[in-house]
Parts: sequence; structure tokens; C-alpha cells
Amino acid sequence: MSYILITGGTGYIGSHTCLQLIQAGYTPVILDNFINSKPAVLQRITQLSGQTPIMIEGDIRHRPTLEKIFKQYPIEGVIHFAGLKAVGESVQKPIEYYENNVAGTLTLLEAMQQAQVKRIIFSSSATVYGDPASVPIRESFPTLSATNPYGQSKLMIERILQDVAHVSPDWSITLLRYFNPVGAHPSGLMGEDPQGIPNNLTPYITQVAIGRREQLSVFGNDYPTPDGTGVRDYIHVMDLADGHVAALKHKFSEAGVHIYNLGTGRGYSVLEVLKAFEKACGHSIRYQLSPRRAGDIAECWSDASKAATELHWQAQRSLDDMAQDCWRWQTENPQGYPDNV
Ligand code: NAD
Ligand code: UFG
Repeated sequence: MSYILITGGTGYIGSHTCLQLIQAGYTPVILDNFINSKPAVLQRITQLSGQTPIMIEGDIRHRPTLEKIFKQYPIEGVIHFAGLKAVGESVQKPIEYYENNVAGTLTLLEAMQQAQVKRIIFSSSATVYGDPASVPIRESFPTLSATNPYGQSKLMIERILQDVAHVSPDWSITLLRYFNPVGAHPSGLMGEDPQGIPNNLTPYITQVAIGRREQLSVFGNDYPTPDGTGVRDYIHVMDLADGHVAALKHKFSEAGVHIYNLGTGRGYSVLEVLKAFEKACGHSIRYQLSPRRAGDIAECWSDASKAATELHWQAQRSLDDMAQDCWRWQTENPQGYPDNV
């Protein structure tokens, strides 16, 4: 029974990871303030795993809450998902974003230090590579200053963690740089539940497909890519969840800083994604070509070979799997998770 503290464990990626952790024999202890998630997800995790995860409703910025958790449970390490993640909103609310993401992580690290918990896996993002000089992107590529506070907060946290490792060589710090997480649990019971108008491509597509929104705007068709639309490395959320289990197994006990891209190693254009979703839902999906979105880059896809070699992990699920699972989740939960459980 290995207890792992999962901050943000009721969120999109955290919830799928909790499920895979339980199935791999770990005991997740979730800390979440439900700012972007709903308690209903816990029932779904229980339904799928046969185990009710330990849940503490609270904020990573509240030190006494963290201290209590570390006293109450024999926590072996932390997977740190909690944070705010909307790029556009972060431009409007920089203080809120830095306070939640950066100050929150500092409070977590202080509490970990005090409790002598020295293992952490952090949810970073391909955004730290900025507009890379070439693709595929390797972990050795330089990280670049971000154009928005969200991306900058990821860079700052990566730097803080590397500085911690420098003075505390017995810490194990794993930075997982996610590419574009999409998809849902194949049961249709768990998935992404964005509040308001989705910022990301696939939730927007499914909402158009189901009739909640009129049409998709394809942001830019004049990029230097095969069909002119943006290319990204979409990775199924279940593969991403498995990547965390692999990192726990292979790197949690090894001191130092470990950095991995979690992607599939191939890119798809917006129009290719749209086609996969049309196939999954069985009808065409309305779209219009629109101007480029500020801050977007042409191509962003990973070289995922380091994770394959060192974590013995590779993404298994196809773009069609992602589209079918998203669609099942959307049709069976048209309004996302229920408010009341
Ligand atoms: P999410 O919003 O679904 O999950 C984050 C969870 O953290 C939510 O449940 C939210 O309620 C919780 N939370 C936020 N602030 C908190 C706080 N101060 N205290 C306690 N709980 C708090 O997001 P996600 O898509 O699951 O992303 C998880 C992590 O992965 C985030 O750090 C995000 O930046 C990172 N990431 C996400 C993507 C993506 O496209 N989804 C890409 C790269 C990196
Ligand atoms: N897109 C559209 N229409 C939409 C939404 C998106 O055409 O309505 C296009 C974008 O222009 C881009 C692609 O679809 O070419 C993917 O866009 P997303 O917003 O889904 O994802 P991004 O690659 O822009 O950003 C994601 C995460 C960020 C993270 C970044 C790098 O949302 O948090 O990947 O990891 F920083």
C-alpha cells in the first residue's frame, strides 16, 4: 500500500491517473479544492476501480491542510497536478495564476520538506519549449520564455524544482512535459469536463458535434504544414495516466531531476483531428476557416523515445481511439459530471 498524494486528483488528468494508480496497486490520497472539477468524479473512480479514493477537500496553498495530510498518511511522494490551466484567462488574471500555480507549489514544497517527503512528479507542459526551432521536440531542446502567465508559471516551477534538486540531491524530481492530452476513459464514465466555452480543440469539436455549439473555428490555414492548419501531438489521457504510473515505477526511487516528454511522437493537423471525430460520431461537423489565434505555433510534436527507453512507456492508443472515447463520454454525459452526487 503505497500512499501517493495527488494534488488536483479530481481534475481531468488527475482523475484518470488515480484510476490507473489504484489499478497498479497504489493508494492515492487526493487533495483538490474543486475549483475546476466536481466531486461526482469520485463516484466514477469508485465504480471503475472498486475502491473509494481518499479525498481531502482543500487548497495546496493552505499549509496546515498539507501538514495534516502528511501527518495522517504515510505519503511516499506527490504527483502534483493542481493548478489553473487556461492560457487566455492567465493573460487576464496573472496574479491569480502565479499565486495559485507558483505560490501553491512553494507551499507544497515547504510542507514536503518539513515532512521529509522527497519525491515529486510535476505536470509540466510542452509549452515550456515555446516555438521550437524544429520538430520533433526532444527534452534537450532549450526552454523558452512563455508569452502568457500560464506557460511562464510552468517554466518557473520547473526552475524552482531544479533549484531544489541542486541543494537537496536526495530528492527525486520528475518533470513530465505533456503534449496535447485528449480522450476519455473507454467506459464513457470519465472524461474532460470544461466549464464554459472550451479553449481546446477536441472539447470544442465534440460540443459542435452534439449540437451545443454552432461550428468550429479552425484557427489558421496558412501555417507551413501539409494542410495549412496547426499540427499537435495529441495523446490519449489513458496513455498519459499510464505514463505517470511508469514514472512512479521507474524514477520515484531515483534521486535527481528526470525530464520526459509524454506524447505519441507524431503530429496531426486540426483538419485530421476533425475527420477522426466525424468518423467517430458518424456525421459531418461544421467548421469555418478563421484567422490564426494569437500565440499559436505551427507545429508542436514530441520525440517520445526517452520515455520509451527509460520509463518503458509508449502511447498505445490511436487518434481514432481518442475520438471514439471522447465521443462516448460526450454523448453519455452531455452536460459533463452532475453537480450533485
Ligand atoms: P484540471 O483543471 O482538470 O485539473 C486541475 C485540478 O486542480 C482541478 O481539479 C482543480 O480543481 C485543482 N486545483 C486547482 N488549483 C488548486 C489549488 N490551489 N488547490 C487544490 N486544487 C486545485 O486540469 P488538467 O487538464 O487535469 O491538468 C492537470 C495539470 O496538467 C495542470 O497542472 C495543467 O497545467 C497540466 N497540463 C495540462 C494540459 C492539458 O492540456 N490538459 C497540458 C499540459 C499540462
Ligand atoms: N484550434 C482550433 N480551433 C479551436 C481550438 C483550437 O483551430 O477552437 C487549434 C489550435 O489553433 C491548435 C490546435 O487546434 O492548432 C490545438 O489547440 P488547443 O487549444 O487544443 O491546444 P494548444 O496546442 O494550443 O495548447 C495545449 C494546452 C496548453 C499547453 C499547450 C502546449 O491547452 O495548456 O498545449 O502543451 F500549454
